Amino acid sequence: MALADFDIVLFGGGGDLAMRKLLPALFARDRDGHLPPGARIICAGRHHWSREEFLNVLETNARPHVAAAETQPQRWQAFCERVQYVALDATDPAAYEPLIQAMRPDSELVRVFYMATPPALFSRICHNLADVGLANERSRVVLEKPLGRDLASARQINAEVGKVFNESQIYRIDHYLGKETVQNLLALRFGNVLFEPLWRREFISDVQITIAEELGVGNRIEYYDTAGALRDMLQNHLLQLLCIVAMEPPLSVQADPVRDEKLKVLRSLKRFNQTTLAQNIVRGQYRAGHVGGIAVPGYRQEGAPPDSRTETFVAVKAEIDTWRWAGVPFYLRTGKRMADQLAEIVVRFKALPHSIFAQPSSTFQPNCLVISLQPEEGLQLNLMAKTPGDRMRLKPVELELDFREQFKMPRMEAYERLLLDVLRGQLTLFMRSDELEAAWEWVEPILNYWEQEQTEPLPYSAGTWGPAAASALIGRDGLQWREEA
Ligand code: BG6
Repeated sequence: MALADFDIVLFGGGGDLAMRKLLPALFARDRDGHLPPGARIICAGRHHWSREEFLNVLETNARPHVAAAETQPQRWQAFCERVQYVALDATDPAAYEPLIQAMRPDSELVRVFYMATPPALFSRICHNLADVGLANERSRVVLEKPLGRDLASARQINAEVGKVFNESQIYRIDHYLGKETVQNLLALRFGNVLFEPLWRREFISDVQITIAEELGVGNRIEYYDTAGALRDMLQNHLLQLLCIVAMEPPLSVQADPVRDEKLKVLRSLKRFNQTTLAQNIVRGQYRAGHVGGIAVPGYRQEGAPPDSRTETFVAVKAEIDTWRWAGVPFYLRTGKRMADQLAEIVVRFKALPHSIFAQPSSTFQPNCLVISLQPEEGLQLNLMAKTPGDRMRLKPVELELDFREQFKMPRMEAYERLLLDVLRGQLTLFMRSDELEAAWEWVEPILNYWEQEQTEPLPYSAGTWGPAAASALIGRDGLQWREEA
């Protein structure tokens, strides 16, 4: 579907996200011919930069993140022609005149306002847009995470933004939903008959979802130290992955059918009590160590306060109270400065009920489906097979599907896909307000518990799989994390 002409305004347009992700994503779509001739990008920020100065900033901070900008300089130049810069204090309604001037009045244009700012500004900016007459019924607003820091603040953002825009105009981004393999998971589950009959408690023993990063907090310490891994990753990315794994088949891939099913999963997550809060959650903070053979400092040496209790690792045992999933543990874990850079979903099936072979059934590895989101994008199915020879001896083997090999086509980064969806008006891959609140409802007791307990996060050395307690968490159930097995 060809896109209509649009004006997209990036609030926070001189910031890190705009430079590293949003502008490179828009460039990539422009390079491949997806942007219409009348597409314009207006970056709004606090700095008083001239257009010239802003183009220099773009050159230094965005271009290095842009694939092919070096080899196709004329395309980069053409992209820069679309970009404008407007200096404004977005909190001050009296300061919007330059933005009003920069935007085209044509009522046929799609207008997108992208909030790449701290969430504390979302409501103010939306109200200001309404007051100065820039928001109309054709406008769309994109909200970047973190969407609040607890249930109350998330509700407040929803309520305030909702006074200016209808739910159908609001795009709450979780960039994990834009990843190719996450969508492939939908294809795997609902485009094949093979898996769905087995996708339930009768056949699945447990599910592990890991997002491990080798990187530390880098230059984001100011934000990160007020957030931590639970707010930064688990409340959003990990829970969204869990929803895609666990949801019932939606009626279609339209926005509301998918979001209705995800909401049911979030609402069915078993609530924690004092015992499970103490037992089923592990939080950690990295100390100095080695990642990929390189010595790296600990979290508290990276600019965090010396007594910071912010967690850089969290592991949770979750359960879903439904007929399909009752009793199946979902282990979620994420951390910075871990032993490897990977995101994966591991679905482990139950053990063989009985062995007809001479080998004891304990030598049979349960079937396991590994969905790799990054750095590899693929599927691995572990099966048992007979080894060649005259004896009936079975060994574990792997069936592998590498999506990059299979589809030798250029890939789209998550932000490229999601920005196109915003411009097309397609809401399926964005969170609805009730989903966001349901996720916070489940997560908030954990935050409150940590607050009450006032305990330190457990230390772990950079370059490991997190505190030993995370292995114990899953070990209590007689299981191991895949990388530790
Ligand atoms: C962001 C978090 O949402 O996701 C970052 O704020 C994290 O802390 C990032 O590094 C991870 O995303 P990806 O796509 O690199 O796995």
